[in-house]
Amino acid sequence: MINNQTLEGLSKQALALFPHYYAFDSINSTNSWLLAHKTPGSICLAKQQTAGKGTKGRQWYSDSADNLLFSFSLAHKYDQNLSDCPPISLLAGIACCEALAELGMTGQGIKWPNDIYCGNKKLAGILVEVSDHLSYWVVGIGMNVNSVPNAELSRQAIYVNEYLDIPVSPERIAAAILTIFSALYRSAGDWQKQWKKWDILLGQDVLLLKNNKQTCVRVSGLTPTGELIVEHGGELTALSSGEVSIRGFMQNDG
Ligand code: BTN
Repeated sequence: MINNQTLEGLSKQALALFPHYYAFDSINSTNSWLLAHKTPGSICLAKQQTAGKGTKGRQWYSDSADNLLFSFSLAHKYDQNLSDCPPISLLAGIACCEALAELGMTGQGIKWPNDIYCGNKKLAGILVEVSDHLSYWVVGIGMNVNSVPNAELSRQAIYVNEYLDIPVSPERIAAAILTIFSALYRSAGDWQKQWKKWDILLGQDVLLLKNNKQTCVRVSGLTPTGELIVEHGGELTALSSGEVSIRGFMQNDG
C-alpha cells in the first residue's frame, strides 16, 4: 500500500529537500526501493521489510511492525573529489542522536562510522548506498523504537521507548531526523563539532580489525572528510570505513 501524503512534522527546509513520501506496509527493503526508483528527494518508510539490508552484506531484521525502517534519497553532486562531499553517513548519525535528544532521550552516542548505541547496546544502524557514478545517494536507517529486532538480539540491543517517559512513534522520529539532517546538510560546515558531542569512541582504546589482523589502537578523532584517526605506537593513521571494523569498545556514558 502506497500513501503519498507528507510525513507529518517535517520542517519547511526538510520538505523542500524531501518532497516525495512513500509509505508501505511491507516491502523488500526501503533502500532497494529507492535505488530502483531513482527519484532524488524521496522518503520511503515501511512497517516491515522482507529483505532488509545491513552493512557489510548482513541482513537487517525487525520482527515486529513497530520499529523505524526508512530511507531517503539525495542527488548529491560534487567536483569529482570525494573530499568536497560532506560525509553523508556521519551527518545521518548526528541527526539520529540529535533527534532522540530533542524527543527527551539521553545516553545515546555514535560508534564510528554510523552505529547508534545507548549503554553499550545497539539502538540503530545506518546503511548508505550510492549509484549513478556517485550522484544518487540513498541513506537507510533502521531504529529499534518499540522493541528489539528479535529475541536473539535482546541482550545486545535496546529500543527507544524503553528510555522515554512519553513514547514516540517511528514516524515522529523519522520527521525529527530528516529535519535535523536537512539543516546539517544545508549548512554542511561545522559537522565535526556536532560529531564530537556524540562520538563514543574518542580517546578510547579499541580493537581494530584490518586485513584479518587485530590491533589495539587509541581513537584520536576524525579527518575533515570523516576518516577515523587512530594512534598506534606513536603514529597517527587515517582509516576509511571500508577498510576496517571496530570490534572491542566500551561506551563512556554521561
Ligand atoms: C547496520 O547494519 O547497522 C545498518 C542497518 C540499516 C538498516 C536500514 S532499515 C531501512 C533501510 N533499508 C534497508 O534495507 N536497510 C536500511
